[in-house]
Amino acid sequence: MISTWVSVIVMLVAFVNGARNEDDRQPCAKVQTSSPVVPLGSPVTATCIIRDSCPVVIGQAVHIQWRLDNRFLPSSTVANESGRVSEVVIPSFNHTRGSLTCCVQASSLLVVGGVDIRAGYPPQPPQNLSCQTNLTTPNTLTCRWHPGQQETHLLTKYTLHTKIRDLNENNTYELPPGVHQYTIPRDGFVLFSEIEIYVKAVNDLGEATSVPITLEPVSAAKFDPPTILNIQAMPKRYGCLKLSWTLSEQQAWMRNSRLNLEVRLQTADSSRSAEQPILINQVRSTRPVDQCRLLHGTQYFAQIRVRYQQSPWSEWSSSQSGVTLESAPTGRLDWWMKGSGNQKDKHLTIHLFWKPSKQFRANSQNVSYVVSLQKLSGEKGQVCTTMANYCTIQLPKRAKKVYLSAVNAEGRSNPTEVRITLPRSSTVISDVTVIPQDDRSLLVQWSSLVSSSPIDFVVEWRPLLETELSFTQFEITDRNQTSLVISGSIEPYKPYGISVYPRFKDWIGLPQTVNAYSRQKAPSMVPKIQINKNWQYHVELTWDELALDERNGNIQSYKIFYWSAMDPVKVVATDPEERRVVLKDLNTVAMYDAFMMVTTFGGSLNGTTFHFEVEPFDAVSVVMIVTACGVGLSMLIIFIVMMCFSKHSRLKGRFWPAVPDPATAASRDGHQNQHRIPILPQTVMSPIQYTCPTLVFWTSW
Ligand SMILES: *[C@@H]1O[C@H](CO)[C@@H](O)[C@H](O)[C@H]1NC(C)=O
Ligand SMILES: *[C@@H]1O[C@H](CO)[C@@H](O)[C@H](O)[C@H]1NC(C)=O
Ligand SMILES: *[C@@H]1O[C@H](CO)[C@@H](O)[C@H](O)[C@H]1NC(C)=O
Ligand SMILES: *[C@@H]1O[C@H](CO)[C@@H](O)[C@H](O)[C@H]1NC(C)=O
Ligand SMILES: *[C@@H]1O[C@H](CO)[C@@H](O)[C@H](O)[C@H]1NC(C)=O
Ligand SMILES: *[C@@H]1O[C@H](CO)[C@@H](O)[C@H](O)[C@H]1NC(C)=O
Ligand SMILES: *[C@@H]1O[C@H](CO)[C@@H](O)[C@H](O)[C@H]1NC(C)=O
Ligand SMILES: *[C@@H]1O[C@H](CO)[C@@H](O)[C@H](O)[C@H]1NC(C)=O
Repeated sequence: MISTWVSVIVMLVAFVNGARNEDDRQPCAKVQTSSPVVPLGSPVTATCIIRDSCPVVIGQAVHIQWRLDNRFLPSSTVANESGRVSEVVIPSFNHTRGSLTCCVQASSLLVVGGVDIRAGYPPQPPQNLSCQTNLTTPNTLTCRWHPGQQETHLLTKYTLHTKIRDLNENNTYELPPGVHQYTIPRDGFVLFSEIEIYVKAVNDLGEATSVPITLEPVSAAKFDPPTILNIQAMPKRYGCLKLSWTLSEQQAWMRNSRLNLEVRLQTADSSRSAEQPILINQVRSTRPVDQCRLLHGTQYFAQIRVRYQQSPWSEWSSSQSGVTLESAPTGRLDWWMKGSGNQKDKHLTIHLFWKPSKQFRANSQNVSYVVSLQKLSGEKGQVCTTMANYCTIQLPKRAKKVYLSAVNAEGRSNPTEVRITLPRSSTVISDVTVIPQDDRSLLVQWSSLVSSSPIDFVVEWRPLLETELSFTQFEITDRNQTSLVISGSIEPYKPYGISVYPRFKDWIGLPQTVNAYSRQKAPSMVPKIQINKNWQYHVELTWDELALDERNGNIQSYKIFYWSAMDPVKVVATDPEERRVVLKDLNTVAMYDAFMMVTTFGGSLNGTTFHFEVEPFDAVSVVMIVTACGVGLSMLIIFIVMMCFSKHSRLKGRFWPAVPDPATAASRDGHQNQHRIPILPQTVMSPIQYTCPTLVFWTSW
């Protein structure tokens, strides 16, 4: 647009200038505006004055028209037109830039002058000015800011101003437009001297200054992660660790400055990992730091980070470990005992399980457990020593108590008394239900008979795919409680056996047991199917139970889908307990395809397709037919022999001994067959009809 009118003007200028005086080179018209840059949406006034010397207007009245970009402005906006002067007022200039041109109508419309107008907003104060020192040599101080929410639409320049207080030195850094960060070189700041920094934004409509910030460059530095040199137990100080550390090599010159340090400690079993970091103020990296009130005999992993005053924290150091001093175990153990004792046996066999109570502290990484018949420590009376969480022990029948203690290299915990309580067949618990909470936990609920008042309940669970007793876990609940969420080592798709036992003072009630999954999915296998062909038009299929580790859930049903070229797909379903199905009303001339679908509460799996054929004669029919043939053949031979005997009595000696006794063969099988082919016995009576049933028989084959 601009270029169009420029070329027209250039043409007109050339026309006017008969004289080659450079000063006379002027466009045909002069367009003046209040300002070439205006706030967006504000009014714009422009005046076009056509020179008298302009060739196109010489000697004629002119009509001046205004255009903004491609659009003619309506004449109502023209405020004052007299002769060769026209003034236009645009009430609200709402384009960010536009070309306002002044035209006259001659033989064609000619552009005689114009002006470019830009509109926008004054800058907003730069926001969120922040600076960070980079301590890598050479040190630098990088400041960033945000230009503000509103787009100015105009070229906006930023300058960064600094004032170092101690030196009374001011600096101004000019930035290319559109850049909102600047890195002050090393000679522009002093690490330990306060510097005031602000940013100024300038454009044609105004300027704005950010809120100034004042900082000590060293406190705007993010240090490199420090290094832990070593972690040691402190002699004679239980639960304390001494941690030596250093700054990175680059920053080692800061070693005498007072820094803030944070220590993060985790025990090796991550159960206590959520502990808050510990803040230590004003330390020098030449001095080790002590951490106390830790668990005894426990391995800790430590990480540290540093900062100078309120500077950003460094990243965490890599982790180092140390072990606190060991001491004898303290606190009691929670226990759970299941006994089995035959009245006749001299001995009781008991399974004793235990786990740390809330107060228990092993105070060592290597703790073992001792079960003893005697309260006092000593070799005597020990019935079990193990590092596992259970013991199976034989006790004399009169034993009433055993004592359980934890032992480490430093000593032995106070013994926990275990009362020997035996099961009694009395039902106390009913309605145990297990509801998955999520993939790793199960909600167990039960109700107990009102009349009984147990001391507490024991919820015991174990993974059914594991046979080791050490996988057994338990939880003891209050007598008032009738539900418990168990979450220790529950995994999805694995079966768990969960039992609830009521405990009384001297005995244990019968448990209620439920098998449960926290989540189920389709089985991983489909059982192998055996085809048993039994009756005509019927086929029996049988299969074995899936192995427990292939089920992935409780089997809900088995379904057989079967079809042939003639029959549509049919389905038979069986209960999970039944592993046999009879397919009925099959077509004897067809070949059948079938597959099995096994369904758990978490999905189903289809087996591969197998084929079977229904044979027209099953074993019973075949026996029957063969018998019928035998009888028929015998009769024929007897008949022939009798004929021959009468005519050629010589032959008698040859034939007679070779023929089996038909009467015995027929009586052995005949009684089952008679109801199927009742014709046969009659044929025996009548030699004349003899050939007829044979023929019938063969055609039906
Ligand atoms: C119109 O413009 C002429 C010449 O510039 C001026 O003398 C006159 O006062 C103006 N009239 C109005 C109403 O502004
Ligand atoms: C600019 O203003 C004119 C008239 O006031 C209006 O017709 C037009 O839609 C506006 N354009 C924008 C982009 O706001
Ligand atoms: C400036 O910082 C404040 C507070 O830190 C934040 O809420 C705001 O979003 C930031 N503004 C911009 C433009 O980043
Ligand atoms: C500090 O500067 C070095 C090079 O001068 C650079 O490699 C490093 O990334 C910078 N660190 C930060 C946090 O910007
Ligand atoms: C630095 O700027 C302050 C005001 O901002 C002024 O008082 C001082 O004289 C300036 N110093 C120098 C060295 O320009
Ligand atoms: C653990 O302690 C037992 C004695 O309590 C000792 O025999 C065994 O060697 C120790 N094991 C380790 C790994 O320290
Ligand atoms: C158990 O229930 C009894 C009464 O039902 C109540 O007095 C007692 O405080 C409850 N105990 C707990 C630990 O909730
Ligand atoms: C198993 O086959 C049945 C019947 O064809 C079909 O509805 C089902 O979606 C199949 N299931 C899977 C898991 O493929």
